[in-house]
Amino acid sequence: MIQFLLNNEMIELKSFAPSLSILDWLRTNMGRAGSKEGCASGDCGACTVVVGDLINGQWQYKSINACLMLVGNLHGKHLITVEALTTKVDPTLEDLHPVQRAMVECHGSQCGFCTPGFIMSLFALYMNHNQYPGKEAVIQALGGNLCRCTGYQPILKAAKKCFSYPKQAAQNISHQDHRFSQQVSVLTETLKKALLANQIPMLEEGDQHFYLPQNLSQLCALKASHPQAQFVAGATDLSVEFSQRLSYNNKLISVRYCPELMQFNEDQQGLHIGAALPYSEFLERFCEIYPESHELFERLGSLQIRNAGSLGGSIANASPIGDPAPLFIALNANIELQSCRGQRVIALADFFMDYRKTQLADDEVIVAIHIPKRETTLQLSCHKISKRIEDDISAVCLVLSYQLDNDKMHNVRCAMGGMAATPALAKNVAKALNGQILNLENLQHAAQQIDVDFQPLSDVRASSTYRLQVSKNLFDRIWFQALGKIQLKQNTQISSAIQTRIHHEAL
Ligand SMILES: Cc1cc2nc3c(=O)[nH]c(=O)nc-3n(C[C@H](O)[C@H](O)[C@H](O)COP(=O)(O)OP(=O)(O)OC[C@H]3O[C@@H](n4cnc5c(N)ncnc54)[C@H](O)[C@@H]3O)c2cc1C
Ligand code: FES
Ligand code: FES
Repeated sequence: MIQFLLNNEMIELKSFAPSLSILDWLRTNMGRAGSKEGCASGDCGACTVVVGDLINGQWQYKSINACLMLVGNLHGKHLITVEALTTKVDPTLEDLHPVQRAMVECHGSQCGFCTPGFIMSLFALYMNHNQYPGKEAVIQALGGNLCRCTGYQPILKAAKKCFSYPKQAAQNISHQDHRFSQQVSVLTETLKKALLANQIPMLEEGDQHFYLPQNLSQLCALKASHPQAQFVAGATDLSVEFSQRLSYNNKLISVRYCPELMQFNEDQQGLHIGAALPYSEFLERFCEIYPESHELFERLGSLQIRNAGSLGGSIANASPIGDPAPLFIALNANIELQSCRGQRVIALADFFMDYRKTQLADDEVIVAIHIPKRETTLQLSCHKISKRIEDDISAVCLVLSYQLDNDKMHNVRCAMGGMAATPALAKNVAKALNGQILNLENLQHAAQQIDVDFQPLSDVRASSTYRLQVSKNLFDRIWFQALGKIQLKQNTQISSAIQTRIHHEAL
């Protein structure tokens, strides 16, 4: 059985198909049709709901695509749907939640189909900020919501205006309610008891099962006895398989309830990121250490996708166009795999074998990704080429890392996505750059080696010729980026030799 809160109601579910999405459950089983289905694949945001996790006694809320998240993964959580924002039958403007009122007053809705999704994304933003967080934060919050008729200006205005109303107008949301507090106590007690009794919560229907192991040893034992079962973390890849390809697995094992897979640690060796940790829970710290990767991650899906998706899911999925793999291969990361047979750690660069084939054995799980401590001389350059800025998968992704010593590049690693059947190192490019002076000529010369390293395919995202050309062009961009950095430091560290070269390149 699983238990969670829907608005301020306790829900207990026992018998359900493991592949059921929250959206299907809400609309079909619960008759709550406020959350809309536009695309059923995470692209439009019409289904956005808010999901809360109780962390150290505090609820932390995030926007999620209900069409992707599976009902089983709601265990122990608080699901808020658009129906809960205003409970009055015939509300006045003042009765509405501030985000709803602002959308009305700013004319943020026309046909209204996308509106519940926008409202819930804005509601998550509102819950997480005491005051207007600025246009950038709003654009991030709404990057996964599409509107075909209103135009975005009125919605952006509403996002600002909702913070101008008195804060107490938000109090009709369920957790101000006494009944809600009681339900939370019941829920936490039940979860504690199940944990102490070493029980594995699950949903089942016929021969279909959704298991929620509570620790790594339970998880490995389950996988050993059901080698064909599939792991599920955020389900942002898996649910698309269900909804678009109608390809289901009868047995799913959630990796989200094992603390061992949900950690983020920093020590002398470097960073250790739990494979099941959602992106949004580690990106802030990660990007403080690797600010060069900020844009790459900001453009990974939408906020709803980053609130659900995990590194383990991306790496296990082994998509040739996943964005994290080139970055972590360039950073020389290792991945930790575990099964009942024991643990092994392998280089991420060696993990991918062929199109969607990896070294992961049937009984193994990815536990964590280990990234070596950043050297002060490390330079990093990350580039994503996609048709849209927000919420779009790469046609090409290129990450170059190197150490700069006396103006020369050493330990060069160049990893690319979208160029082969798997994310891969551009070994000849790296060879051509190692030991060379950092300048445009050497970068352009090395870029020609891309033809030796890769023979990319043509597909809906880009042609082979485009992929080859754009990835070579990125080496010009890498130079201009480096030039910018060098010029910033011009008066401090830069050697006169490099200054002379910049002068010549600029001419
Ligand atoms: C609208 C949309 C936009 C997207 N945009 C991008 C983008 O811009 N860039 C990008 O890179 N990706 C993008 N994705 C893909 C996806 O979000 C990522 O690949 C994500 O990291 C997958 O993680 P997950 O936790 O959701 O994986 P899941 O869907 O839960 O799992 C994916 C696969 O990994 C397996 N798995 C999960 N965890 C583990 C584990 N710990 N050990 C072993 N196997 C495991 C599962 O069995 C499954 O086969 C997008 C997806 C959508 C729907
Ligand atoms: S229905 Fe489009 S994102 Fe869920
Ligand atoms: S109001 Fe019609 S799609 Fe947004």
